[in-house]
Amino acid sequence: MHIWILKIILLIASSLRLIEMYDNYGEICRNLCTCEEKEAILTVSCENRGIVRLTEISPVQFSMYHLLLTGNLLKKLSLNDFINYTGVTILHLGNNDISEVEAGAFNGLQGLKRLHLNNNKIESLREDTLAGLESLEYLQIDYNYITNIDTHALSKLHQLTVMILNDNMLSTLPANIFRNVPSPTWI
Ligand SMILES: *[C@@H]1O[C@H](CO)[C@@H](O)[C@H](O)[C@H]1NC(C)=O
Repeated sequence: MHIWILKIILLIASSLRLIEMYDNYGEICRNLCTCEEKEAILTVSCENRGIVRLTEISPVQFSMYHLLLTGNLLKKLSLNDFINYTGVTILHLGNNDISEVEAGAFNGLQGLKRLHLNNNKIESLREDTLAGLESLEYLQIDYNYITNIDTHALSKLHQLTVMILNDNMLSTLPANIFRNVPSPTWI
């Protein structure tokens, strides 16, 4: 009799610990997304969830994480949408419906190293479109409708080494666009 009660108490305690573990990551890991921790990096997978606005998700409490939002229905990235996502190092936004990126949309992402924006409907890279992405090393923005890139669009991306830009609608690139990015290693 007593042993059973003890077992039940232990069972409840261990499931509470499990819930607590998910609570520590944040609410989206319990509902909308799946979260997996590996070698001190958390991968938050929210792909193909029908997400229309970033207000439908919330940041996780983790010092370094990858946020996968590929294949959703995002149309617009607004000012400060990512302000509380400071731990994100890789952000996947490919295969959405993004046509508008407001100035300051990426505020908060000063630690972001890789940004995937492929297969969207972005028409231009203005001077302020990529503002704040001071650690960005890798930008994938192929398969968009880009017709225009501002001369200063990349000028604050001092860490940028890879930019994938094919399948847009560019006929020319501004002179000196890669002036402030590191010298490429030609291979
Ligand atoms: C970011 O976090 C602060 C402090 O918790 C909160 O007041 C603010 O509403 C959050 N901003 C967004 C856009 O979620």
